[in-house]
Amino acid sequence: MQETFTVRLFKSTDLDQIISINHECLPENYTTFFFMDLYERYPETFIVVEHDGKIVGYIMCRIETGLSSLEKLGNPRKGHVISIAVLPKYRRQGIATALMQEAMKNMVHYKVKECYLEVRASNNEATTLYKKLRLKISRTIREYYMDGEDAHVMSRKLPFEPDSLNET
Ligand code: COA
Repeated sequence: MQETFTVRLFKSTDLDQIISINHECLPENYTTFFFMDLYERYPETFIVVEHDGKIVGYIMCRIETGLSSLEKLGNPRKGHVISIAVLPKYRRQGIATALMQEAMKNMVHYKVKECYLEVRASNNEATTLYKKLRLKISRTIREYYMDGEDAHVMSRKLPFEPDSLNET
């Protein structure tokens, strides 16, 4: 990612831009309350990328406790990526990778042992991105989305160590 992009924590004054990016990039949209609730509860994992004073991408997450989708982890705290998007003009420059890396790094603040997310079965771009970050498809949820599409659940253990991505 170019040096002109800044990765930083979300601020409440970013909200309008985040809502606009969310509407432009994804069919899953949320209320203002939902965005602000996630920010207030989990500020370390609500992250944006800024370029020339403008937000070009974001990630927001929720911390949950529940059965691990990975073996041997029991009932860990898990970091759930709720939404991630990058404006079309700024894609393929490593922005989503940087957002995911920062979110997984910061999940450790919440004593999280696993990161997971749902991705549309047809979303090959996002699935490739997550595989590069060592998330694996752990199961498929039939008709998870409102329009009937299936979701793949993808997950990986934490902590996240960027160096480990170079290992084969
Ligand atoms: N085609 C093929 N591979 C793609 C891709 C595309 N359009 N977009 C990303 N990838 C894969 C590539 O392997 C890429 O590495 P490379 O560019 O070195 O080949 C890798 O993912 C990392 O891409 P990156 O530049 O970090 O991603 P991005 O900033 O372009 O953002 C999304 C990726 C998915 C977040 C972005 O396309 C987006 O906002 N899509 C709409 C919203 C969405 O689908 N969100 C995910 C919901 S689960």
